[in-house]
Amino acid sequence: MTYLRNCWYMAAWSGEVTAAPFARHILDEPILMFRKQDGDAVALTDRCPHRFAPLHLGKLDGDRIQCPYHGLKFNAEGRCVFNPQGAGATPAAASLRRYPLLERYGGLWIWMGDPTRADPALLPDYPFLEPGDRYAREQGYMHTKAYYELLSDNILDLGHVDFLHQGSLGCEATARAKPRTRQEGNRIYCDRWMPDARQGPLLNMLFERDEPVDAWIDVVWDPPGLMLLHFGMTDVGSAREGARETLNVHFMTPESERSTHYFWAGCRSFRRDEPGLGDTLRAGVEAAFSLEDKPMIEAQQAMMGDADFWSLKPVLLQGDAAAVLARRTLAKLIEAEQEAASPAAATAQ
Ligand code: FES
Ligand SMILES: [Fe+2]
Repeated sequence: MTYLRNCWYMAAWSGEVTAAPFARHILDEPILMFRKQDGDAVALTDRCPHRFAPLHLGKLDGDRIQCPYHGLKFNAEGRCVFNPQGAGATPAAASLRRYPLLERYGGLWIWMGDPTRADPALLPDYPFLEPGDRYAREQGYMHTKAYYELLSDNILDLGHVDFLHQGSLGCEATARAKPRTRQEGNRIYCDRWMPDARQGPLLNMLFERDEPVDAWIDVVWDPPGLMLLHFGMTDVGSAREGARETLNVHFMTPESERSTHYFWAGCRSFRRDEPGLGDTLRAGVEAAFSLEDKPMIEAQQAMMGDADFWSLKPVLLQGDAAAVLARRTLAKLIEAEQEAASPAAATAQ
């Protein structure tokens, strides 16, 4: 599988990575993460260059990771600094790749491509995810056995909500709403306006509504699979300004061509301190994702098998415009990256 490499992928929520070895495959590569004694997180190849043992099964000695098989130790830069075998030489080839890692918006972001191009400014802005008093936030992680583009499709095509999420998020308005899609650079916007309709039970509970309302879901997609949703409700016929709104992110990171690390968070600036509300919301959202979206998307992947998405000639409906644009945009970016990396391109420079 060809992935976009010169971009930031979410590798973990900040709290997942501690001073103990933590392993995760990203873009088919085994990654080891841990926090140094100064608290900074690092990401290294998780495969020992000697006999390929998983380093995350080893122990940390200060900022050094010791391979559990024959005892080589590597520092946080990935250099072998200790060899307990024989005369103790530390060959230069015994080194681990170190990946640029950025801690921002409550998460750790990894750069899987050319490290000299790892520019923090290339990560889109999600300032509401920074710790602070302004928003209450629920967040989670869901491993899914499907390629990440299917998960991006799922967020960009919210016409599924009324069917797959009946009884939780679904209502009759989402599928009926005509999405407005537009693209600016590599960013795609997809807005749904749902006037004078009753929303789903979980959202009505949060927004303290039961009557028909005007509601909106505005989605922003950035490559490779970063999505931000604004969801809000107001009285029928009233202005959106000042109405209650939630900010929700869905970050998809490919683990492999058949699996995805799905990071999500929901932020609200209202009812922030209500005891128990956060737990209820998290349970509701997790149930909708893990009992409704996940089984469907995994079944979809199983049905597609190894076939290329476009080779199956998918029928396109009105609500698919944004997902199709996202797929095409990503394909173009990958193609451009491949061309730039090809030997012919290098010779021409
Ligand atoms: S496999 Fe790691 S030291 Fe031998
Ligand atoms: Fe869904």
